[in-house]
Amino acid sequence: MTQVMPPKPPARPDRVSLWRYAKLFRQDILSAQPARLYRAWMAEFRTPFFRSFLVNQPDLVKLLLKERPEDFPKSDRIAEGLKPLLGNSVFLTNGEAWKRQRRIIDPAFEGGRLKDTYPAMRAAAEAAVKRLEGRTGPVEIEEETSHAAADVIFRTLFSIPIDHEVAGEVFTRFRDYQRSQPLLNLAAFVPLPRWMPRLFRAGTRQNAKTIRALIAQLTTERMAAIKAGRAPDDLATKIMTTRDPETGSTFDTAEMVDQVAIFFLAGHETSASALAWALYLMALYPDWQERVAAEAAVLEDESFAAVSRLKISRDVFRETLRLYPPVPMMVREAACPERFRNRAVPKGAQMVLSPWHLHRHERLWENPDGFDPARWGTENGKQCQRDAYIPFSAGARVCTGAGFAMVEGPLLLSMILRRFRIEPAAGKAPVPVAHLTVRSKNGIWLQLSPRQPKLFLKSFGQSF
Ligand code: HEM
Repeated sequence: MTQVMPPKPPARPDRVSLWRYAKLFRQDILSAQPARLYRAWMAEFRTPFFRSFLVNQPDLVKLLLKERPEDFPKSDRIAEGLKPLLGNSVFLTNGEAWKRQRRIIDPAFEGGRLKDTYPAMRAAAEAAVKRLEGRTGPVEIEEETSHAAADVIFRTLFSIPIDHEVAGEVFTRFRDYQRSQPLLNLAAFVPLPRWMPRLFRAGTRQNAKTIRALIAQLTTERMAAIKAGRAPDDLATKIMTTRDPETGSTFDTAEMVDQVAIFFLAGHETSASALAWALYLMALYPDWQERVAAEAAVLEDESFAAVSRLKISRDVFRETLRLYPPVPMMVREAACPERFRNRAVPKGAQMVLSPWHLHRHERLWENPDGFDPARWGTENGKQCQRDAYIPFSAGARVCTGAGFAMVEGPLLLSMILRRFRIEPAAGKAPVPVAHLTVRSKNGIWLQLSPRQPKLFLKSFGQSF
């Protein structure tokens, strides 16, 4: 029997004109790249407007992200599509402003706090399972996972479910923002000359304004509740009451709006994408699905401790993040001239780090395009996890929500598979494309059927 391979987008021919590249890029940044990037250590893209370098060599990736991050700050240009929505959020700032924001935000995501956040996460997972119970026929699972991940964020941040009026409206408007902003990719990764007009579609800025007004309403109410001593102990309260250890200052309400906007955007699109692909892979590999479903019995125990026993689920989720990293590429800017692999890198060059290519690098990974959650126990898997695995980035600017996401993802995956058996819907194979995150071109369609409840068997002391 031939081995089923996880879907991978086609690569473009090696040489194409700049305009063709820009066109392909606008459609999808993954299939716009040539196949050689899966083997190259470094590649240069030279155009009349910009020079950019894709860096795939582990020690160079380490240098940019971990050893000298201050010499490779976030490029201003990445902010272009996001600024109307995200303002001065931690995702976009650099230097002292960024450092201060991380000092205030990081304590809310520390290991110990995850335990406090867990009941809200579990409640969101239960609500997601319940929503799926009502579904018959093929289900477009990205829609469901987006809903679930947004619910996780609202419950953990503000102690409100997605059914809350303001939460629901923020969720819908965020989706419209992303749909109305197709130039985001192009502006972010292929920096346009400064003189070229930015073609925001009518309504995009207005939509960003409305989202920010809705978030402002939540943060203002929360500030009042904190002052009145009746605020719930959730992530928003934690962040809004944490003082910068160096200056003693806290975020004011306006600064908090910027941060909430990024938590919502960074924390829900990414988790939703990873969970949707994980479920699709489980449909494609039923042996692994059965193993995850069997392991999920540990979730009878509703305490946080049970999550540490979801080992198979975690390996599956980790493998999903390797094959379908939700943030497929990141961009930095060289603050000074460099020499890498004997090539001159001028000041101002755009440095592209590509989890997508690094995670499938043919000279680093065994079976790079195959789905194998057992690889994390092998020598090659362990080595590559250290050197060539960056789904959450690495170093000082590592994702604040990495620990959070590694609890949320396996938990939701296990909760869903505990309740349902899933299969790919006939005739609807997904095609990965990257917009803000890695999604499928035509959705991810699955057929769900309930697993038999085992409770009555348990009472006879039998197990299967
Ligand atoms: C599977 C889920 C997730 C993935 C794969 C992911 C991935 C990433 C990556 C790659 C970055 C770095 C981007 C860059 O440098 O250009 C990042 C940054 C960030 N993420 Fe996540 N993320 C996930 C979930 C979350 C969650 C749940 C939250 C918060 C609740 C979050 C909050 C952030 C923030 C605030 C940053 C900016 C950090 C900084 O620049 O200092 N992420 N994430």
